[in-house]
Amino acid sequence: MIDRTLVDEIVARTDMQTLVGGYVKLKRAGANLNGLCPFHSEKTPSFTVFPSDGSFYCFGCGVGGNAITFVRKIENLEFTEAVAMLARRAGINIPQTALVSGGPTYDKNRFYEMNKKAARFFHNALFADTPDAKAALAYWIEKRGLSMATVKHFGLGYAPNDFSFVNYMKSEGYRDEELSVAFLCGKSEKGYLYPSFRNRVIIPVMDLSGHVIAFNGRVMDGGEPKYKNSSDTPVFRKGNTLFALNFAHKHCAERIILCEGAMDVIAIHAAGFPYAVATLGTAIRPEHARLLSRYTKKVILSYDSDAAGQKATDKALALLEDVGLEVRILRLTGAKDPDEYIRNFGAEAFRSLLDDSHTKFDFNFERVLQRYNLDVPQQKIEAIDALCTVIAGVYSSVEREIYIAEGARRLGVDAKNLAADVQKKIALRRKEEKSDTAKVAREILGGYGDRVNPDFVKAPRAARLEEAVLGLLQLYPEYRTRTFAQEPLLTEEDFVTELGRRVFCFLRDTANAGEEFDSAMLDSVFSPDEVGRISGMRVGRMRLSDNGEAVFLECVKELKAAKASEEAKKAPVTFATLDALLKGKREE
Ligand code: GTP
Ligand code: MN
Repeated sequence: MIDRTLVDEIVARTDMQTLVGGYVKLKRAGANLNGLCPFHSEKTPSFTVFPSDGSFYCFGCGVGGNAITFVRKIENLEFTEAVAMLARRAGINIPQTALVSGGPTYDKNRFYEMNKKAARFFHNALFADTPDAKAALAYWIEKRGLSMATVKHFGLGYAPNDFSFVNYMKSEGYRDEELSVAFLCGKSEKGYLYPSFRNRVIIPVMDLSGHVIAFNGRVMDGGEPKYKNSSDTPVFRKGNTLFALNFAHKHCAERIILCEGAMDVIAIHAAGFPYAVATLGTAIRPEHARLLSRYTKKVILSYDSDAAGQKATDKALALLEDVGLEVRILRLTGAKDPDEYIRNFGAEAFRSLLDDSHTKFDFNFERVLQRYNLDVPQQKIEAIDALCTVIAGVYSSVEREIYIAEGARRLGVDAKNLAADVQKKIALRRKEEKSDTAKVAREILGGYGDRVNPDFVKAPRAARLEEAVLGLLQLYPEYRTRTFAQEPLLTEEDFVTELGRRVFCFLRDTANAGEEFDSAMLDSVFSPDEVGRISGMRVGRMRLSDNGEAVFLECVKELKAAKASEEAKKAPVTFATLDALLKGKREE
Protein backbone atom coordinates (compact mmCIF):
# COMPACT_ATOMS: atom_id res chain seq x y z
CA MET A 1 0.00 0.00 0.00
CA ILE A 2 1.31 3.44 -0.91
CA ASP A 3 1.85 5.79 1.99
CA ARG A 4 -1.12 7.95 2.68
CA THR A 5 0.71 11.30 2.87
CA LEU A 6 2.25 10.53 -0.49
CA VAL A 7 -1.15 9.80 -2.01
CA ASP A 8 -2.46 13.03 -0.48
CA GLU A 9 0.37 14.96 -2.01
CA ILE A 10 -0.06 13.42 -5.44
CA VAL A 11 -3.76 14.24 -5.39
CA ALA A 12 -3.08 17.76 -4.08
CA ARG A 13 -0.58 18.36 -6.87
CA THR A 14 -3.01 17.26 -9.55
CA ASP A 15 -5.06 20.00 -11.09
CA MET A 16 -8.44 18.40 -11.77
CA GLN A 17 -9.37 20.90 -14.43
CA THR A 18 -6.27 20.06 -16.49
CA LEU A 19 -6.51 16.34 -15.83
CA VAL A 20 -10.18 15.98 -16.73
CA GLY A 21 -9.84 18.64 -19.43
CA GLY A 22 -7.57 16.22 -21.29
CA TYR A 23 -10.56 13.91 -21.80
CA VAL A 24 -13.64 16.09 -21.51
CA LYS A 25 -14.42 19.52 -22.91
CA LEU A 26 -15.23 21.54 -19.80
CA LYS A 27 -17.16 24.77 -19.46
CA ARG A 28 -17.23 26.99 -16.42
CA ALA A 29 -20.52 26.97 -14.50
CA GLY A 30 -20.21 29.22 -11.48
CA ALA A 31 -17.53 27.87 -9.18
CA ASN A 32 -17.58 24.50 -10.95
CA LEU A 33 -17.01 23.08 -14.42
CA ASN A 34 -19.45 21.15 -16.55
CA GLY A 35 -19.09 18.84 -19.51
CA LEU A 36 -20.54 15.83 -21.27
CA CYS A 37 -19.97 12.75 -19.16
CA PRO A 38 -17.27 10.46 -20.60
CA PHE A 39 -18.77 7.48 -18.76
CA HIS A 40 -22.28 7.48 -20.20
CA SER A 41 -23.81 8.96 -23.30
CA GLU A 42 -25.70 12.21 -22.85
CA LYS A 43 -26.65 15.34 -24.77
CA THR A 44 -26.81 17.86 -21.93
CA PRO A 45 -23.82 18.08 -19.57
CA SER A 46 -24.39 16.62 -16.11
CA PHE A 47 -20.75 15.78 -15.49
CA THR A 48 -19.38 18.27 -12.95
CA VAL A 49 -15.87 19.01 -11.69
CA PHE A 50 -15.58 20.73 -8.31
CA PRO A 51 -12.17 22.46 -8.34
CA SER A 52 -12.60 23.52 -4.70
CA ASP A 53 -12.00 20.00 -3.43
CA GLY A 54 -10.67 18.30 -6.54
CA SER A 55 -13.65 16.02 -6.95
CA PHE A 56 -16.03 15.20 -9.80
CA TYR A 57 -19.51 13.81 -10.02
CA CYS A 58 -21.93 12.97 -12.79
CA PHE A 59 -25.50 13.79 -11.82
CA GLY A 60 -26.64 11.66 -14.73
CA CYS A 61 -24.98 8.32 -14.04
CA GLY A 62 -23.61 8.67 -10.50
CA VAL A 63 -19.95 8.25 -11.37
CA GLY A 64 -17.75 10.35 -9.14
CA GLY A 65 -14.69 10.64 -6.95
CA ASN A 66 -11.34 12.34 -7.11
CA ALA A 67 -8.36 12.39 -9.48
CA ILE A 68 -7.47 8.78 -8.67
CA THR A 69 -11.00 7.50 -9.29
CA PHE A 70 -11.13 9.40 -12.55
CA VAL A 71 -7.90 7.86 -13.83
CA ARG A 72 -8.88 4.39 -12.60
CA LYS A 73 -12.14 4.57 -14.51
CA ILE A 74 -11.08 6.29 -17.68
CA GLU A 75 -7.77 4.45 -18.14
CA ASN A 76 -9.01 1.26 -16.54
CA LEU A 77 -6.15 1.07 -14.05
CA GLU A 78 -5.59 -0.52 -10.66
CA PHE A 79 -5.29 1.81 -7.67
CA THR A 80 -1.47 1.70 -7.51
CA GLU A 81 -1.19 2.12 -11.27
CA ALA A 82 -3.45 5.17 -11.14
CA VAL A 83 -1.43 6.68 -8.31
CA ALA A 84 1.80 6.02 -10.21
CA MET A 85 0.41 7.65 -13.34
CA LEU A 86 -0.66 10.77 -11.44
CA ALA A 87 2.70 10.86 -9.65
CA ARG A 88 4.51 10.85 -12.99
CA ARG A 89 2.30 13.68 -14.22
CA ALA A 90 3.07 15.70 -11.10
CA GLY A 91 6.79 14.96 -11.19
CA ILE A 92 6.73 13.19 -7.84
CA ASN A 93 8.98 10.25 -7.06
CA ILE A 94 7.37 7.21 -5.49
CA PRO A 95 10.05 5.46 -3.45
CA GLN A 96 10.30 1.71 -4.03
CA THR A 97 9.64 1.14 -0.35
CA ALA A 98 6.29 2.90 -0.61
CA LEU A 99 4.96 -0.01 -2.61
CA VAL A 100 5.54 -2.69 0.02
CA SER A 101 3.46 -2.97 3.14
CA GLY A 102 4.49 -3.57 6.71
CA GLY A 103 8.19 -3.35 5.92
CA PRO A 104 11.00 -3.67 8.42
CA THR A 105 11.50 -1.15 11.20
CA TYR A 106 14.59 1.04 11.25
CA ASP A 107 16.93 2.40 13.86
CA LYS A 108 16.13 6.10 13.90
CA ASN A 109 19.47 7.12 15.39
CA ARG A 110 21.26 5.47 12.53
CA PHE A 111 19.11 7.46 10.12
CA TYR A 112 19.81 10.73 11.94
CA GLU A 113 23.51 9.98 11.73
CA MET A 114 23.26 9.06 8.06
CA ASN A 115 21.37 12.28 7.26
CA LYS A 116 23.86 14.34 9.23
CA LYS A 117 26.72 12.88 7.21
CA ALA A 118 24.82 13.60 4.00
CA ALA A 119 24.14 17.20 5.09
CA ARG A 120 27.83 17.74 5.89
CA PHE A 121 28.78 16.27 2.53
CA PHE A 122 26.41 18.63 0.68
CA HIS A 123 27.53 21.65 2.72
CA ASN A 124 31.23 20.94 2.18
CA ALA A 125 30.62 20.40 -1.53
CA LEU A 126 29.75 24.11 -1.77
CA PHE A 127 33.33 25.00 -1.00
CA ALA A 128 35.12 22.57 -3.31
CA ASP A 129 37.57 24.03 -5.78
CA THR A 130 35.59 23.20 -8.92
CA PRO A 131 33.63 25.39 -11.32
CA ASP A 132 30.41 23.56 -10.38
CA ALA A 133 30.89 24.22 -6.68
CA LYS A 134 31.71 27.86 -7.35
CA ALA A 135 28.54 28.20 -9.42
CA ALA A 136 26.49 26.66 -6.61
CA LEU A 137 27.92 29.00 -4.01
CA ALA A 138 27.31 31.90 -6.37
CA TYR A 139 23.70 30.75 -6.67
CA TRP A 140 23.16 31.15 -2.93
CA ILE A 141 25.14 34.33 -2.50
CA GLU A 142 24.47 36.23 -5.69
CA LYS A 143 21.27 34.86 -7.16
CA ARG A 144 19.43 34.47 -3.83
CA GLY A 145 21.21 37.34 -2.10
CA LEU A 146 22.14 35.38 1.03
CA SER A 147 25.07 36.13 3.31
CA MET A 148 27.69 33.51 4.12
CA ALA A 149 26.36 33.57 7.69
CA THR A 150 22.90 32.55 6.44
CA VAL A 151 24.34 29.81 4.24
CA LYS A 152 26.09 28.40 7.32
CA HIS A 153 23.18 28.94 9.71
CA PHE A 154 20.83 26.87 7.55
CA GLY A 155 23.56 24.44 6.50
CA LEU A 156 22.79 25.04 2.84
CA GLY A 157 24.65 22.88 0.36
CA TYR A 158 25.17 21.53 -3.11
CA ALA A 159 24.73 18.04 -4.53
CA PRO A 160 27.40 17.51 -7.21
CA ASN A 161 26.53 16.24 -10.64
CA ASP A 162 28.33 12.91 -10.19
CA PHE A 163 28.37 9.76 -8.06
CA SER A 164 30.75 11.04 -5.37
CA PHE A 165 27.89 11.18 -2.87
CA VAL A 166 27.05 7.49 -3.30
CA ASN A 167 30.69 6.50 -3.00
CA TYR A 168 31.12 8.60 0.12
CA MET A 169 28.02 7.22 1.86
CA LYS A 170 29.00 3.65 1.02
CA SER A 171 32.50 4.26 2.34
CA GLU A 172 30.83 5.36 5.58
CA GLY A 173 29.28 1.90 5.80
CA TYR A 174 25.71 2.56 4.69
CA ARG A 175 23.91 -0.16 2.78
CA ASP A 176 22.07 0.38 -0.52
CA GLU A 177 18.75 -0.37 1.05
CA GLU A 178 19.19 2.11 3.93
CA LEU A 179 20.25 4.83 1.53
CA SER A 180 17.17 4.39 -0.60
CA VAL A 181 14.80 4.13 2.37
CA ALA A 182 16.29 7.42 3.60
CA PHE A 183 15.53 8.89 0.16
CA LEU A 184 19.20 9.78 -0.21
CA CYS A 185 19.62 7.43 -3.16
CA GLY A 186 17.51 5.63 -5.70
CA LYS A 187 18.01 2.35 -7.48
CA SER A 188 18.06 2.13 -11.24
CA GLU A 189 16.30 -0.63 -13.14
CA LYS A 190 19.64 -2.32 -13.67
CA GLY A 191 20.12 -2.28 -9.92
CA TYR A 192 22.82 0.32 -9.40
CA LEU A 193 22.51 3.06 -6.83
CA TYR A 194 22.32 6.70 -7.88
CA PRO A 195 22.09 9.85 -5.73
CA SER A 196 18.58 11.27 -5.32
CA PHE A 197 19.93 14.81 -5.55
CA ARG A 198 22.25 15.69 -8.41
CA ASN A 199 23.36 19.09 -9.57
CA ARG A 200 20.93 20.79 -7.21
CA VAL A 201 21.43 23.22 -4.37
CA ILE A 202 20.35 21.63 -1.11
CA ILE A 203 18.31 22.83 1.85
CA PRO A 204 18.45 20.45 4.81
CA VAL A 205 15.34 20.05 6.96
CA MET A 206 15.71 19.60 10.71
CA ASP A 207 13.38 18.44 13.41
CA LEU A 208 12.90 20.29 16.67
CA SER A 209 15.94 18.67 18.25
CA GLY A 210 18.12 19.66 15.31
CA HIS A 211 18.35 16.20 13.72
CA VAL A 212 18.60 16.39 9.95
CA ILE A 213 15.54 14.51 8.70
CA ALA A 214 15.08 15.45 5.03
CA PHE A 215 16.35 17.52 2.12
CA ASN A 216 14.96 19.87 -0.48
CA GLY A 217 16.94 20.13 -3.70
CA ARG A 218 16.42 22.99 -6.13
CA VAL A 219 17.66 23.31 -9.70
CA MET A 220 19.87 26.32 -10.34
CA ASP A 221 18.44 27.05 -13.77
CA GLY A 222 14.94 26.69 -15.20
CA GLY A 223 15.08 22.86 -15.16
CA GLU A 224 12.23 20.59 -14.18
CA PRO A 225 11.14 19.69 -11.63
CA LYS A 226 12.14 22.89 -9.84
CA TYR A 227 12.29 21.13 -6.48
CA LYS A 228 12.98 17.59 -5.57
CA ASN A 229 12.09 16.94 -1.94
CA SER A 230 12.52 13.91 0.31
CA SER A 231 9.45 11.71 0.56
CA ASP A 232 8.49 10.34 3.93
CA THR A 233 11.12 8.15 5.59
CA PRO A 234 11.35 6.45 8.99
CA VAL A 235 12.49 9.79 10.46
CA PHE A 236 10.47 12.20 8.32
CA ARG A 237 6.78 12.77 7.86
CA LYS A 238 6.13 15.88 5.85
CA GLY A 239 2.57 15.97 7.14
CA ASN A 240 3.71 17.02 10.57
CA THR A 241 6.99 18.79 9.94
CA LEU A 242 7.47 22.55 9.72
CA PHE A 243 10.63 23.86 8.14
CA ALA A 244 12.81 25.96 10.50
CA LEU A 245 10.69 25.31 13.58
CA ASN A 246 13.98 24.26 15.19
CA PHE A 247 15.08 27.92 14.92
CA ALA A 248 11.69 29.60 15.22
CA HIS A 249 10.43 27.92 18.37
CA LYS A 250 12.54 30.14 20.62
CA HIS A 251 11.13 33.33 19.09
CA CYS A 252 7.54 32.58 18.24
CA ALA A 253 5.53 32.68 21.47
CA GLU A 254 3.68 35.81 20.33
CA ARG A 255 3.43 35.21 16.60
CA ILE A 256 4.76 32.99 13.88
CA ILE A 257 4.96 33.63 10.14
CA LEU A 258 3.74 30.73 7.99
CA CYS A 259 5.00 30.56 4.39
CA GLU A 260 4.63 28.28 1.40
CA GLY A 261 8.29 27.59 0.75
CA ALA A 262 11.55 27.02 2.59
CA MET A 263 13.21 29.77 0.52
CA ASP A 264 10.75 32.30 1.88
CA VAL A 265 11.54 31.22 5.41
CA ILE A 266 15.28 31.56 4.82
CA ALA A 267 14.85 35.06 3.39
CA ILE A 268 12.62 36.15 6.27
CA HIS A 269 15.00 34.82 8.93
CA ALA A 270 17.92 36.48 7.15
CA ALA A 271 16.00 39.78 7.16
CA GLY A 272 15.88 39.63 10.95
CA PHE A 273 12.60 37.85 11.69
CA PRO A 274 13.63 34.46 13.05
CA TYR A 275 10.08 33.29 13.63
CA ALA A 276 9.01 32.08 10.16
CA VAL A 277 8.22 28.46 9.24
CA ALA A 278 6.86 26.64 6.18
CA THR A 279 5.18 23.37 5.33
CA LEU A 280 7.36 21.22 3.10
CA GLY A 281 6.06 21.10 -0.44
CA THR A 282 2.57 20.27 0.76
CA ALA A 283 -0.54 22.17 1.71
CA ILE A 284 -1.15 22.80 5.40
CA ARG A 285 -2.73 19.84 7.20
CA PRO A 286 -4.63 19.66 10.48
CA GLU A 287 -1.51 18.17 12.10
CA HIS A 288 0.45 21.30 11.15
CA ALA A 289 -2.25 23.49 12.67
CA ARG A 290 -2.16 21.54 15.92
CA LEU A 291 1.63 21.72 15.99
CA LEU A 292 1.55 25.50 15.51
CA SER A 293 -1.00 25.92 18.27
CA ARG A 294 1.48 24.39 20.70
CA TYR A 295 4.10 27.07 20.00
CA THR A 296 2.29 30.30 19.31
CA LYS A 297 -0.86 32.38 19.74
CA LYS A 298 -0.99 34.06 16.39
CA VAL A 299 -0.14 32.98 12.86
CA ILE A 300 0.66 35.52 10.18
CA LEU A 301 -0.10 33.86 6.87
CA SER A 302 2.42 34.86 4.28
CA TYR A 303 1.51 32.86 1.21
CA ASP A 304 2.25 33.64 -2.42
CA SER A 305 0.25 36.48 -3.92
CA ASP A 306 -0.95 34.37 -6.89
CA ALA A 307 -4.35 32.68 -7.13
CA ALA A 308 -3.04 29.37 -5.77
CA GLY A 309 -1.59 31.19 -2.76
CA GLN A 310 -4.89 32.91 -2.09
CA LYS A 311 -6.71 29.61 -2.25
CA ALA A 312 -4.19 28.07 0.11
CA THR A 313 -4.77 31.04 2.42
CA ASP A 314 -8.46 30.15 2.62
CA LYS A 315 -7.68 26.60 3.56
CA ALA A 316 -5.07 27.61 6.13
CA LEU A 317 -7.45 30.15 7.67
CA ALA A 318 -10.04 27.46 8.28
CA LEU A 319 -7.60 24.92 9.73
CA LEU A 320 -5.83 27.43 11.98
CA GLU A 321 -9.04 28.88 13.33
CA ASP A 322 -10.21 25.36 14.07
CA VAL A 323 -7.41 24.99 16.61
CA GLY A 324 -8.13 28.37 18.15
CA LEU A 325 -5.25 30.36 16.67
CA GLU A 326 -5.59 34.02 15.87
CA VAL A 327 -4.80 34.47 12.18
CA ARG A 328 -3.59 37.49 10.24
CA ILE A 329 -2.92 37.71 6.55
CA LEU A 330 0.00 39.49 4.96
CA ARG A 331 -0.84 41.29 1.75
CA LEU A 332 2.12 41.21 -0.62
CA THR A 333 2.01 43.75 -3.41
CA GLY A 334 4.63 44.04 -6.10
CA ALA A 335 6.13 40.62 -5.44
CA LYS A 336 5.16 37.01 -5.89
CA ASP A 337 6.31 35.77 -2.50
CA PRO A 338 7.96 37.04 0.71
CA ASP A 339 11.45 36.15 -0.56
CA GLU A 340 10.99 38.28 -3.65
CA TYR A 341 9.35 41.04 -1.60
CA ILE A 342 12.31 41.31 0.74
CA ARG A 343 14.75 41.29 -2.15
CA ASN A 344 12.78 44.04 -3.93
CA PHE A 345 11.85 46.27 -1.02
CA GLY A 346 14.06 45.36 1.94
CA ALA A 347 13.58 44.22 5.52
CA GLU A 348 12.02 47.44 6.82
CA ALA A 349 9.27 47.34 4.20
CA PHE A 350 8.57 43.76 5.24
CA ARG A 351 8.34 44.85 8.87
CA SER A 352 5.66 47.38 7.93
CA LEU A 353 3.77 44.62 6.13
CA LEU A 354 3.90 42.49 9.28
CA ASP A 355 2.63 45.35 11.42
CA ASP A 356 -0.13 46.00 8.92
CA SER A 357 -1.29 42.39 8.48
CA HIS A 358 -4.98 41.89 7.90
CA THR A 359 -7.78 39.99 9.54
CA LYS A 360 -9.77 37.35 7.70
CA PHE A 361 -12.57 39.82 7.51
CA ASP A 362 -10.48 42.36 5.62
CA PHE A 363 -9.09 39.64 3.43
CA ASN A 364 -12.48 38.40 2.25
CA PHE A 365 -13.76 41.89 1.88
CA GLU A 366 -10.89 43.24 -0.14
CA ARG A 367 -10.99 40.27 -2.42
CA VAL A 368 -14.52 41.11 -3.51
CA LEU A 369 -14.15 44.86 -3.62
CA GLN A 370 -10.82 45.12 -5.41
CA ARG A 371 -12.51 44.08 -8.64
CA TYR A 372 -14.62 47.23 -8.78
CA ASN A 373 -14.07 50.95 -9.04
CA LEU A 374 -16.40 52.26 -6.36
CA ASP A 375 -16.38 55.80 -7.77
CA VAL A 376 -18.28 54.61 -10.82
CA PRO A 377 -21.96 54.25 -9.82
CA GLN A 378 -22.66 51.21 -12.01
CA GLN A 379 -19.61 49.42 -10.64
CA LYS A 380 -20.58 50.29 -7.12
CA ILE A 381 -23.96 48.65 -7.69
CA GLU A 382 -22.22 45.57 -9.01
CA ALA A 383 -19.87 45.56 -6.03
CA ILE A 384 -22.82 45.68 -3.64
CA ASP A 385 -24.43 42.82 -5.51
CA ALA A 386 -21.22 40.75 -5.43
CA LEU A 387 -20.81 41.45 -1.75
CA CYS A 388 -24.39 40.37 -1.03
CA THR A 389 -23.76 37.12 -2.87
CA VAL A 390 -20.69 36.47 -0.74
CA ILE A 391 -22.46 37.34 2.49
CA ALA A 392 -25.48 35.22 1.55
CA GLY A 393 -23.14 32.26 1.25
CA VAL A 394 -21.90 32.65 4.82
CA TYR A 395 -23.39 29.96 6.98
CA SER A 396 -23.44 31.68 10.35
CA SER A 397 -26.05 34.40 10.77
CA VAL A 398 -23.89 36.15 13.36
CA GLU A 399 -21.02 36.32 10.91
CA ARG A 400 -23.41 37.54 8.23
CA GLU A 401 -24.51 40.36 10.47
CA ILE A 402 -20.94 41.51 11.05
CA TYR A 403 -20.23 41.49 7.34
CA ILE A 404 -23.40 43.45 6.62
CA ALA A 405 -22.56 46.16 9.16
CA GLU A 406 -18.98 46.49 7.97
CA GLY A 407 -19.97 46.31 4.30
CA ALA A 408 -22.55 49.05 4.78
CA ARG A 409 -19.98 51.24 6.50
CA ARG A 410 -17.33 50.81 3.83
CA LEU A 411 -19.65 51.22 0.89
CA GLY A 412 -21.54 54.06 2.48
CA VAL A 413 -24.95 52.42 2.18
CA ASP A 414 -27.68 51.66 4.66
CA ALA A 415 -27.17 48.43 6.61
CA LYS A 416 -30.91 47.68 6.58
CA ASN A 417 -31.01 47.78 2.79
CA LEU A 418 -27.94 45.65 2.52
CA ALA A 419 -29.46 43.11 4.90
CA ALA A 420 -32.62 43.01 2.82
CA ASP A 421 -30.61 42.37 -0.34
CA VAL A 422 -28.75 39.56 1.37
CA GLN A 423 -32.05 38.00 2.46
CA LYS A 424 -33.29 38.10 -1.12
CA LYS A 425 -30.20 36.26 -2.29
CA ILE A 426 -30.66 33.62 0.37
CA ALA A 427 -34.29 33.09 -0.63
CA LEU A 428 -33.32 32.80 -4.29
CA ARG A 429 -30.63 30.28 -3.52
CA ARG A 430 -33.05 28.12 -1.57
CA LYS A 431 -35.51 28.12 -4.41
CA GLU A 432 -32.82 26.93 -6.80
CA GLU A 433 -31.79 24.22 -4.42
CA LYS A 434 -35.31 22.99 -4.14
CA SER A 435 -35.52 22.28 -7.86
CA ASP A 436 -32.10 20.60 -7.69
CA THR A 437 -33.39 18.44 -4.89
CA ALA A 438 -36.34 17.29 -6.93
CA LYS A 439 -34.01 16.38 -9.78
CA VAL A 440 -31.78 14.32 -7.52
CA ALA A 441 -34.82 12.62 -6.05
CA ARG A 442 -36.04 11.65 -9.50
CA GLU A 443 -32.63 10.26 -10.32
CA ILE A 444 -32.67 8.19 -7.18
CA LEU A 445 -36.15 6.90 -7.86
CA GLY A 446 -34.93 6.11 -11.36
CA GLY A 447 -32.84 3.54 -9.59
CA TYR A 448 -29.34 4.35 -10.84
CA GLY A 449 -26.67 2.83 -8.69
CA ASP A 450 -28.64 -0.20 -7.61
CA ARG A 451 -26.00 -2.20 -9.36
CA VAL A 452 -23.46 -0.67 -6.98
CA ASN A 453 -25.60 -0.93 -3.87
CA PRO A 454 -28.05 -3.78 -4.50
CA ASP A 455 -29.39 -3.62 -0.93
CA PHE A 456 -30.71 -0.12 -1.56
CA VAL A 457 -34.07 -1.15 -2.97
CA LYS A 458 -34.79 -3.50 -0.09
CA ALA A 459 -35.12 -0.60 2.34
CA PRO A 460 -34.97 2.61 0.34
CA ARG A 461 -36.07 4.91 3.11
CA ALA A 462 -33.47 3.71 5.56
CA ALA A 463 -30.87 3.53 2.79
CA ARG A 464 -31.56 7.16 1.89
CA LEU A 465 -31.06 8.16 5.53
CA GLU A 466 -27.94 6.11 5.60
CA GLU A 467 -26.58 8.02 2.62
CA ALA A 468 -27.48 11.35 4.22
CA VAL A 469 -25.63 10.38 7.40
CA LEU A 470 -22.60 9.13 5.46
CA GLY A 471 -22.57 12.27 3.33
CA LEU A 472 -22.56 14.46 6.43
CA LEU A 473 -19.89 12.34 8.08
CA GLN A 474 -17.63 12.77 5.06
CA LEU A 475 -18.09 16.52 5.03
CA TYR A 476 -17.88 17.47 8.69
CA PRO A 477 -15.03 16.45 11.03
CA GLU A 478 -17.06 17.52 14.06
CA TYR A 479 -19.80 15.00 13.23
CA ARG A 480 -17.17 12.29 12.91
CA THR A 481 -15.75 13.21 16.29
CA ARG A 482 -19.22 12.97 17.84
CA THR A 483 -20.16 9.77 16.07
CA PHE A 484 -16.99 7.88 16.90
CA ALA A 485 -16.68 9.14 20.46
CA GLN A 486 -16.35 6.89 23.49
CA GLU A 487 -20.10 6.38 23.44
CA PRO A 488 -20.62 6.10 19.70
CA LEU A 489 -23.73 7.70 18.23
CA LEU A 490 -23.94 4.93 15.64
CA THR A 491 -22.59 1.44 15.17
CA GLU A 492 -22.32 -0.63 12.03
CA GLU A 493 -25.45 -2.47 13.19
CA ASP A 494 -27.47 0.65 12.45
CA PHE A 495 -26.80 0.40 8.73
CA VAL A 496 -29.10 -1.38 6.32
CA THR A 497 -26.97 -1.85 3.24
CA GLU A 498 -23.71 -3.68 2.99
CA LEU A 499 -22.06 -0.76 1.19
CA GLY A 500 -23.28 1.70 3.82
CA ARG A 501 -21.89 -0.49 6.55
CA ARG A 502 -18.50 -0.72 4.86
CA VAL A 503 -18.32 3.04 4.35
CA PHE A 504 -19.22 3.57 7.99
CA CYS A 505 -16.52 1.13 9.14
CA PHE A 506 -13.98 2.80 6.87
CA LEU A 507 -14.74 6.24 8.34
CA ARG A 508 -14.69 4.87 11.86
CA ASP A 509 -11.42 3.00 11.44
CA THR A 510 -9.74 6.01 9.84
CA ALA A 511 -10.88 8.20 12.74
CA ASN A 512 -9.79 5.67 15.34
CA ALA A 513 -6.37 5.45 13.71
CA GLY A 514 -6.08 9.19 14.32
CA GLU A 515 -6.12 10.07 10.64
CA GLU A 516 -8.12 12.76 8.92
CA PHE A 517 -10.65 11.50 6.42
CA ASP A 518 -9.76 12.41 2.88
CA SER A 519 -11.81 11.30 -0.10
CA ALA A 520 -8.59 10.33 -1.90
CA MET A 521 -8.24 7.44 0.56
CA LEU A 522 -11.48 5.85 -0.59
CA ASP A 523 -9.80 4.57 -3.72
CA SER A 524 -7.45 2.33 -1.80
CA VAL A 525 -10.44 0.39 -0.42
CA PHE A 526 -13.47 0.78 -2.69
CA SER A 527 -14.07 0.05 -6.37
CA PRO A 528 -14.36 3.06 -8.70
CA ASP A 529 -18.13 2.55 -8.94
CA GLU A 530 -18.41 2.47 -5.19
CA VAL A 531 -16.27 5.60 -4.87
CA GLY A 532 -18.73 7.24 -7.26
CA ARG A 533 -21.66 6.29 -5.11
CA ILE A 534 -19.88 7.45 -1.96
CA SER A 535 -19.03 10.77 -3.62
CA GLY A 536 -22.69 11.07 -4.52
CA MET A 537 -23.55 10.93 -0.83
CA ARG A 538 -21.14 13.79 -0.17
CA VAL A 539 -22.11 15.86 -3.21
CA GLY A 540 -25.77 15.38 -2.37
CA ARG A 541 -25.20 17.16 0.93
CA MET A 542 -22.93 19.82 -0.54
CA ARG A 543 -25.83 21.13 -2.61
CA LEU A 544 -27.99 21.73 0.44
CA SER A 545 -27.82 24.83 2.57
CA ASP A 546 -28.52 23.42 5.99
CA ASN A 547 -26.28 20.67 7.19
CA GLY A 548 -26.38 21.87 10.78
CA GLU A 549 -26.11 19.70 13.82
CA ALA A 550 -29.87 19.45 14.28
CA VAL A 551 -30.18 18.01 10.77
CA PHE A 552 -27.39 15.58 11.39
CA LEU A 553 -28.80 14.35 14.70
CA GLU A 554 -32.21 13.97 13.16
CA CYS A 555 -30.84 11.87 10.33
CA VAL A 556 -29.04 9.69 12.88
CA LYS A 557 -32.17 9.28 14.95
CA GLU A 558 -34.33 8.51 11.95
CA LEU A 559 -31.82 6.03 10.64
CA LYS A 560 -31.83 4.13 13.90
CA ALA A 561 -35.62 4.18 13.95
CA ALA A 562 -35.90 3.10 10.32
CA LYS A 563 -33.53 0.26 10.84
CA ALA A 564 -35.36 -0.86 13.97
CA SER A 565 -38.78 -0.73 12.47
CA GLU A 566 -39.81 -3.39 9.98
CA GLU A 567 -42.70 -1.19 8.99
CA ALA A 568 -40.47 1.70 8.10
CA LYS A 569 -38.61 -0.64 5.80
CA LYS A 570 -41.77 -1.36 3.92
CA ALA A 571 -43.05 2.21 3.84
CA PRO A 572 -43.28 3.50 0.28
CA VAL A 573 -40.93 6.23 -0.74
CA THR A 574 -42.70 9.34 -1.97
CA PHE A 575 -41.30 12.50 -3.41
CA ALA A 576 -42.32 14.37 -0.30
CA THR A 577 -40.37 12.15 2.07
CA LEU A 578 -37.34 12.09 -0.17
CA ASP A 579 -37.42 15.82 -0.51
CA ALA A 580 -37.57 16.24 3.25
CA LEU A 581 -34.73 13.79 3.72
CA LEU A 582 -32.51 15.41 1.17
CA LYS A 583 -32.82 18.94 2.27
CA GLY A 584 -33.19 18.56 6.01
CA LYS A 585 -34.84 21.39 7.85
CA ARG A 586 -34.47 24.76 6.23
CA GLU A 587 -35.87 27.27 8.71
CA GLU A 588 -33.43 28.95 11.09
P1 GTP B 1 11.86 29.59 -5.34
O1 GTP B 1 11.35 29.50 -6.73
O2 GTP B 1 13.17 28.89 -5.17
O3 GTP B 1 11.87 30.97 -4.80
O4 GTP B 1 10.93 28.73 -4.39
P2 GTP B 1 9.44 29.07 -3.94
O5 GTP B 1 9.34 28.71 -2.50
O6 GTP B 1 9.07 30.46 -4.32
O7 GTP B 1 8.66 28.01 -4.82
P3 GTP B 1 7.12 27.79 -5.05
O8 GTP B 1 6.29 28.88 -4.48
O9 GTP B 1 7.01 27.49 -6.51
O10 GTP B 1 6.86 26.44 -4.27
C1 GTP B 1 6.66 26.38 -2.87
C2 GTP B 1 7.09 25.02 -2.38
O11 GTP B 1 6.46 23.99 -3.13
C3 GTP B 1 8.57 24.78 -2.55
O12 GTP B 1 9.28 25.16 -1.39
C4 GTP B 1 8.67 23.30 -2.77
O13 GTP B 1 8.79 22.60 -1.54
C5 GTP B 1 7.37 22.94 -3.41
N1 GTP B 1 7.58 22.79 -4.85
C6 GTP B 1 7.66 23.76 -5.79
N2 GTP B 1 7.90 23.25 -7.01
C7 GTP B 1 7.99 21.91 -6.84
C8 GTP B 1 8.24 20.82 -7.72
O14 GTP B 1 8.46 20.99 -8.93
N3 GTP B 1 8.23 19.57 -7.19
C9 GTP B 1 8.02 19.33 -5.87
N4 GTP B 1 8.03 18.08 -5.42
N5 GTP B 1 7.79 20.34 -5.00
C10 GTP B 1 7.77 21.63 -5.47
MN1 MN C 1 10.24 32.19 -4.34
